[in-house]
Amino acid sequence: MSQELYDAPNSFIQNANIDKATYEAMQTAALLEPDVFWAQQAERLTWFKPWTQVFTGDFSTGEINWFTGGELNVAYNCIDRHLAQCAQKTAVIWEAENGEQKTFTYQMLYDEVCAAAAMLRSLTVKKGDRVIIYLPMIPQLMFTVLACARIGAVHSVVFAGFSAESLHLRIKDCTPKLIITADGGYRRGQQFAVKKQVDQALDAINIAHVLVVKRTGQEIFWQSGRDLWWHEQKDNVDLNLGIHAEIMSAEDPLFILYTSGSTGKPKGILHTTAGYLLGAHISFYYIMDYKPTDIYWCTADIGWITGHTYLVYGPLSHGATTLLFEGVPNYPDPGRFWQIIDKYQVSVFYSAPTVIRMLMREGDEWVKKYQRLSLRLLGTVGEPINPEAWRWYYDVIGEKRCPIVDTWWQTETGSIMISPLPSCWPQKPGSATRPFFGAKPVLLDEAGQLLTGEATGYLCLAQAWPSMLRGVYGDKTAFYQLYLSKFPHYYLTGDKARRDKEGDYWIIGRSDDVMNVAGHRIGSAEVENALVAYPLITEAAVVCVPDPIKGEAIYAFATLQKDVTPTAQSAKEACEWVAMEIGKFAQPSYIQWTNALPKTRSGKIMRRLLRKIAAGEYTDLGDISTLADPAVVELLISESKSVYKSK
Ligand code: WT7
Repeated sequence: MSQELYDAPNSFIQNANIDKATYEAMQTAALLEPDVFWAQQAERLTWFKPWTQVFTGDFSTGEINWFTGGELNVAYNCIDRHLAQCAQKTAVIWEAENGEQKTFTYQMLYDEVCAAAAMLRSLTVKKGDRVIIYLPMIPQLMFTVLACARIGAVHSVVFAGFSAESLHLRIKDCTPKLIITADGGYRRGQQFAVKKQVDQALDAINIAHVLVVKRTGQEIFWQSGRDLWWHEQKDNVDLNLGIHAEIMSAEDPLFILYTSGSTGKPKGILHTTAGYLLGAHISFYYIMDYKPTDIYWCTADIGWITGHTYLVYGPLSHGATTLLFEGVPNYPDPGRFWQIIDKYQVSVFYSAPTVIRMLMREGDEWVKKYQRLSLRLLGTVGEPINPEAWRWYYDVIGEKRCPIVDTWWQTETGSIMISPLPSCWPQKPGSATRPFFGAKPVLLDEAGQLLTGEATGYLCLAQAWPSMLRGVYGDKTAFYQLYLSKFPHYYLTGDKARRDKEGDYWIIGRSDDVMNVAGHRIGSAEVENALVAYPLITEAAVVCVPDPIKGEAIYAFATLQKDVTPTAQSAKEACEWVAMEIGKFAQPSYIQWTNALPKTRSGKIMRRLLRKIAAGEYTDLGDISTLADPAVVELLISESKSVYKSK
């Protein structure tokens, strides 16, 4: 295989936060003497009380403890400790959907977060209580996340693109004391309803209060007693209530973030205080090569883990300037991102392959309209980046001046696990390259045998790291069952990867029934459940097909009830139904009505076969001898000619 290598420019290497020898020494220490290494790193945080033990636990039980005995507060680390030096430095730049802007200095951020904390406390939210935050990308989203951390409440941010039904499930699962939302939001110049989803989600659920930010002024349903306006609460609250930052133990929960697995039910991934913050802090420093003069922009929504770690906690823990953007990449035109980069002189830009591919298709003229001279480092996350998109990102966006960090990690890992450090080794388009400190990736075969050298296999992590998940909320056995039991002593990532002869890792994609659509993680079972809940559908099986922009697109096979005629109209309605049940991002791109799904004699749906048919690969269908009815293959192929394609 021809190897394309890209070295970072000398000017980058000379000013970078790390060099090759230091990386090697640090990574060796992290793997061989983790207690010593992590104790040293943890000194970068501000502690109220030092830990007594760095690490206890192992993968045979799923019992993981970092920095036992230590006490600290995440919001204090992200705000208070910067005030002495950086009170007047810009902490957050907010670029509104309509191009308006607001900036908050660290002092202003402190005031806002304390006010939000005071509001939470006045509504009797206490340490350990859960708070669901269902907000569009407005500053209050940042404030409330940090306010929860300040008072020790466990936030669970639900991406505002999730449906009322998805929100309902999350409310039932984590039983929040309070929900924070907004009347509505803006998208592509239009208003969308937000509070309405909360009202629906709360059907048959009692909750003391819903705190509502006024963003659009649109008309909303109001349940007096329950619903409270943010601005009214803020005006009336005793601000002193917010000042005190709760003393948290290292292993106290910080947040729950729901993500998809191979079951139909989203998992509430639990992260705790010290380990998570440390992972966010040091990865941001080395991988984003943080400099105090940077204007840093992560385009992810705070509703996903990328937003948690690299829009909020990582940057703020360093006193960085972080940009929060309310809009989308192609509104009012496909130059929006590059215009924002010039407007604020963004130096480090972290985005996703799906965005790069979408903007690449719009042509270079949108990029060339802007200078982008402030950029010095580019990042990508969420799915494999195809070399063509990588090169466009590198050549056109970064004008061959900016290294690219292709960062691999997961909601569960809390922070980046595999990524180039461009000042230490060359980048390879499409490869996340090498492990970050403390990550010990291995490849295993189906039987759990460790593969050496060049190999392809199940990507696992062989050693505990501070920012790893501590469990699945409300389910004591799930952590062990889902992540640690398949291959004893290894954490199962759910991804397949290849290691090349230089030892660099290439993430291939999921090895389980989890899909990655435009960087969004969606369980096949969740979409199937949504489809069978649609009145006309009896059975459904969902697979992915390659998509030039989204990476993968959802292709659903479904059987209809007897006497129902398959039509494009019902397919369209079924797609809309899924959007309503889960969220628009989970909508199938294709629906194939079928008379039968391919099942083995033991009744299992043969997804492998469905994947081939969905992709139009009818030759080489593999072993189909276990099918209960081999005739189903011909049927599926002929039906695939009239597949419904959603726009
Ligand atoms: C899955 C995790 C935490 C990042 C945002 C997504 C895929 C993530 C890469 C990458 C190839 C990647 C994996 C992973 N993924 N980054 N650089 N190259 N694949 O977090 O929703 O928890 O999804 O995203 O399949 O398992 P997530």
